[in-house]
Amino acid sequence: MPSAIKKNVLQGTNSLLGLADLKLVRSRDQDWSDPSTFLPLKETVAAAQAAGLPLGEYIENTYNVPGAIGTTIGHLTELDVFSGTRDRICEIGPGSARFLEPVRSLCKPSHYEVYETAAPWAKWLQENYGVILRATDGKTLKATPDDSIDLVHAHKVLVVVPLLGICRYLKEMMRVTRPGGVVVFDAFTDDCLADGAIDKWLATDVDAGSYPSLVLKQLIVDLFTAGGFDLSGTFLIPMKPGTTQYFVFRRR
Ligand SMILES: C[S@@+](CC[C@H](N)C(=O)[O-])C[C@H]1O[C@@H](n2cnc3c(N)ncnc32)[C@H](O)[C@@H]1O
Repeated sequence: MPSAIKKNVLQGTNSLLGLADLKLVRSRDQDWSDPSTFLPLKETVAAAQAAGLPLGEYIENTYNVPGAIGTTIGHLTELDVFSGTRDRICEIGPGSARFLEPVRSLCKPSHYEVYETAAPWAKWLQENYGVILRATDGKTLKATPDDSIDLVHAHKVLVVVPLLGICRYLKEMMRVTRPGGVVVFDAFTDDCLADGAIDKWLATDVDAGSYPSLVLKQLIVDLFTAGGFDLSGTFLIPMKPGTTQYFVFRRR
């Protein structure tokens, strides 16, 4: 790849992961224009070790705002995401397990399944966390039966999926959730466009596929309402240089 293009793509990927102005962990084999991939595994794990930080904290500090995971988990706790039975959990795109770890420790599930398109991370998640890796087509949760999951969640995943892919995943999340179960995800919505957000994004030279993929808040609410879910709450959380909007829905 010509170096000018490579630099642009690398900058876009930095933005995708949170920050445009930080050093990226480089890998010759990485296709940064493809959002179904993730950070280079070996290099990222080594960089976290060299920094003396847990992997999740290293990724957060390097690519997003320190403390964002804790703030997110705090909001989700207030919205009762972790109370009640959360024994069967499904996560889409867990990547480095930044959210898998706190969610698993709060819920202590007997069943934790994941859909992950980045093959090296998918294998690493199985080996390190003993999760069930579902065959991942990047569009559906087809290995998961209807009405079978207590909590289905995705963090910074729908922001890399184009609009129809977002809607497909939302419908799939509804399908697999049991009555009384909870769906949690964040998305780049019209509520994330305030305060000159687009200028901030343009200043990053993002060039990473469909990222950040916009979806209307009302469309999400309408889909879930029609699907038999109630909105428990929403909140904004940093995804540098802007924000994403979290949604918590509960099936009736
Ligand atoms: C920006 S990363 C976020 C990772 C992790 N959830 C976090 O918050 O650190 C997006 C993750 O979703 C995965 N991914 C991308 N497209 C996907 C798709 N269509 N289906 C499932 N996973 C996908 C990537 O491999 C990566 O692990």
